[in-house]
Amino acid sequence: MNVVLAVGGGIAAYKSAIVVRELQRGGAKVRVVMTKAAQRFIGSATFAGLTGEKVVTSLWEHPGEIHVELGNWADAIVVAPATMDLLAKAAAGLGDDPVLATLSCAKGQVFFAPAMHWRMWERPSTQRSVATLTADGATMIGPDSGPLASGESGLGRMSEPEAIAAAVLAAGRGADLKGATVLVSAGPTHEDLDPVRFLGNRSTGRMGFAVAAVAASRGAKAILVAGPSALPTPPGVERVDVRSARDMEAAIRAHLASADAVVMAAAVADYRPADTADEKIKKSEGGKSLALVRNPDILAGLGAGREGDRPVLVGFALETSDAPAKARAKLERKKVDLVVANLAKHGFGGEENEVTLVDAEGDETLPRSSKRAIAHAICDRIAARLAS
Ligand code: C5P
Repeated sequence: MNVVLAVGGGIAAYKSAIVVRELQRGGAKVRVVMTKAAQRFIGSATFAGLTGEKVVTSLWEHPGEIHVELGNWADAIVVAPATMDLLAKAAAGLGDDPVLATLSCAKGQVFFAPAMHWRMWERPSTQRSVATLTADGATMIGPDSGPLASGESGLGRMSEPEAIAAAVLAAGRGADLKGATVLVSAGPTHEDLDPVRFLGNRSTGRMGFAVAAVAASRGAKAILVAGPSALPTPPGVERVDVRSARDMEAAIRAHLASADAVVMAAAVADYRPADTADEKIKKSEGGKSLALVRNPDILAGLGAGREGDRPVLVGFALETSDAPAKARAKLERKKVDLVVANLAKHGFGGEENEVTLVDAEGDETLPRSSKRAIAHAICDRIAARLAS
């Protein structure tokens, strides 16, 4: 795999040398391009020594169009550290330095590992840059929470070099799910009370949509059973829209025979109204109580009905405390292969999450990452199980 490491001008640039080493340890060939500001933080000689290649620090020192050559050469470009300034310029499509010009010619996947003070990260303009770049197909790695250069602690630390390299290398594995069918559920379910009212929840569907998108990008046939969600269908994904938990169960069961893996990322309602009124329920004086009945637990049903170890079953556990421990109990109770545990305060709505992968071998807590990067980690586990 050919990787261009683009170094931005932040103090975390000193850690970028380790990103090079980790990428090389994973078998990647690495070339480095730096902004002017980056060279204030770390010398190009360090990267030249590590890569054995001339480091690109200017657009004017090369006879040809170096940004085009690098863009063609790279299977992946990773910007680490990605400063607020670089994110904004890249989102706006500027190209007046070697890093931006190389990004503008990217043929392969693009990753950003943001690093900045927490207040810079929280700025609406920074979040707009991140949203634009993500919508354009780039993947954010981090940032993490922890001590910042200012002496404060907060969200904005560059992810650890090992995590950055792992995310890039995972993407480079390419079509490792070719030939497999991955069935994914996503979003909330809506349980109707009457023709205009329902019981629902705040799930947006982002995590499940990311899993389906990543599975498809890695060569799988991805079937996405989506509860009500405003998200667009990711490229290459077959989408089946459903409404209630029972609709979702029927759609999952209809596709089960062809599935090599099932990822239940949906926030399925545990209860539905005992009755659905045909006419709009009229208000009356005083309170009203609602009789609820249990919905089927789709995932537990798949676990109980499975003979052998196919399809691979992945569940989610959204908890308000002790997520990994509760996820382990869920792993055993629902007889599944992997549970992705997260705390409600991290999980809902955003582009990012902080999760622990829980399986029979142990727990692995991933650094705070984009849902796309988490989807890659889940697909890594699925690919490993399908290969065994
Ligand atoms: O037990 P809990 O609802 O926390 O389990 C969450 C996991 O189980 C998720 O993977 C979710 O998609 C799945 N689930 C299900 N059917 C339900 C409730 C949850 O498949 N009725």
